[in-house]
Amino acid sequence: MATLIHSVELAADLLSAGELVAFPTETVYGLGADAENMQAVSKIYAAKNRPQNHPLIVHLSPEADWAYWADVSHPIVQALIEHFCPGPLTLILPKAPHIPVAATGGQDSIGLRCPSHSVAQALLRAFSERKPNHHAGVAAPSANKFGRLSPTQADHVLAEFHNLADLHVLAGDASEVGIESTILDVSRLQKGVPATLLRPGHITSVALAEVLGYLPRLPDRDAPRASGTLKAHYAPRTPMAYYEPEKPLLDGAIVLAYQPDLIGDGVAYSVMPRQARDYAHKLYARLHELDKKGYSCIYVQKLPKEAQWLGVQDRLQRAIAAFEYPNDA
Ligand code: TXA
Ligand code: MG
Repeated sequence: MATLIHSVELAADLLSAGELVAFPTETVYGLGADAENMQAVSKIYAAKNRPQNHPLIVHLSPEADWAYWADVSHPIVQALIEHFCPGPLTLILPKAPHIPVAATGGQDSIGLRCPSHSVAQALLRAFSERKPNHHAGVAAPSANKFGRLSPTQADHVLAEFHNLADLHVLAGDASEVGIESTILDVSRLQKGVPATLLRPGHITSVALAEVLGYLPRLPDRDAPRASGTLKAHYAPRTPMAYYEPEKPLLDGAIVLAYQPDLIGDGVAYSVMPRQARDYAHKLYARLHELDKKGYSCIYVQKLPKEAQWLGVQDRLQRAIAAFEYPNDA
């Protein structure tokens, strides 16, 4: 059984000993290991059933020296860190030569993020104190099995990994943002390639444009791979589809409702918040709940197209795609 713990010091000791520790962040819970300990990092891949070539995000404390991990000399990179970190933004940067490629899925870039969550920060600080050079990074993907819903509560992690005896879950509150960090690739700025949005999230393209001076572009064929950008990802076990009022629904289905007044008579629904940030905060927790109830299908009512909805739209699109293209997951 995975175990819930409350001590940051114990969690930092476990990381130092090469063990896995799941911990809360403002986006989703992460499944963490010492980023420079390759045996510890390989435990993440095994626990998640994640393909080896999918890179992990390395989490840093607010005091950390980013230059130890990556080339952050570009003025745009400096401005992005200054403006958005700590916070729900991951930057893909040119990896420093001494950082092992095992943590980066064999790529010469590295994903770095400084979470704003106080428990995550306390853990990262306590872990840094245990490193002789005080440079500490915690590699952490979302604490779910590959392709499944991300956890936003400690009990989601405990349920997902109930068979994993060596896993300790550091207790925390429900993740405030509720969807994974925005990922921005700035690893090719020196080569003249503009910033590229690999995964939309709480920090929108419009907010990024205020610092970049332009809207980040969408990924092309040369952009670094990101598992969160597979067509099918973030899926519950219950099939999902878009709600189309004119089409008949499966018996025993439920609608994830945005505008309940537009849902047909006699159709079961579960009401979601009207604001994008509240919707995102609740999304995975609601899907985890509905997933336990044995519905035949979760239909999703269409959402507004504005920038602040793109993160949520993206996760729902991928969850639905998991059932349209089951072989991609
Ligand atoms: O909010 C989050 O980002 C959460 C919390 C725990 O911080 N973490 C998370 O990790 O969502 P994960 O592994 O589920 O998604 C990380 C994404 C993956 O799609 C991965 O491919 C991409 O980041 N990534 C990491 N390093 C990369 C790199 N060097 N190049 C391209 N993509 C990278
Ligand atoms: Mg994930």
